[in-house]
Amino acid sequence: MDLGRNGDANKLLQAQAHIWNHIFNFINSISLKCAIQLGIPDINHKHVKPMSLDELTNAFPIGNAKAPFVYHLMRILIHSGFFIEAKVTQHDEEEGQDLRLNNFFNEGMASDSRLVGSILIRDCKDVLSMLNSLVDVGGGTGTLATEIADAFPDLNCIVLDLPHVVDGLVANNKSLAFVGGSMFVAIPPADDVTMKWILHDWNDEE
Ligand SMILES: C[S@@+](CC[C@H](N)C(=O)[O-])C[C@H]1O[C@@H](n2cnc3c(N)ncnc32)[C@H](O)[C@@H]1O
Repeated sequence: MDLGRNGDANKLLQAQAHIWNHIFNFINSISLKCAIQLGIPDINHKHVKPMSLDELTNAFPIGNAKAPFVYHLMRILIHSGFFIEAKVTQHDEEEGQDLRLNNFFNEGMASDSRLVGSILIRDCKDVLSMLNSLVDVGGGTGTLATEIADAFPDLNCIVLDLPHVVDGLVANNKSLAFVGGSMFVAIPPADDVTMKWILHDWNDEE
């Protein structure tokens, strides 16, 4: 991809962010509609004290298959200010439950990483060329790290992601390795830690 001058790349990133915002804009209103249809405000009101996620999920007739999505629904409603956060404990680990959704999700992220990777390589060349090692935390299937490893052959790149994401992945580049694990347990040591599209999933304490 020819990204032209710096200004063009920035404009492209801004345009991409603008499109992402428009793509996801409907989620707040559709989530609110969903919460009302499920009767979540009334259930919460009647409960008087704060409800845990399990209590909430058990309070309306929803099958086991859909129950994990209540967590995601509540995250959105809390983020958009409709609810106040009680501690929620269920995380992205559940993305592994549905392989098809998982693959779709990973491919979507990989597509974004190709654009961001090409800009990063071009605009952060001076920094990247000084490093010996880099770990891409929550690096998914390794698209960003592969782009970087291909562009900087002397740089050892590690992709850390949950075991169900990286299990069975084989790097095409000999200076790239996949490590399965949780960033909350251990992050492989490296000169640089990269986190792309990660921090929004966690609150400040986490
Ligand atoms: C929104 S995706 C971003 C993927 C990639 N960084 C990108 O930009 O394409 C979030 C990633 O974080 C991973 N993840 C979630 N919890 C994690 C944890 N505890 N430790 C490491 N990775 C985690 C997910 O499996 C997923 O691949």
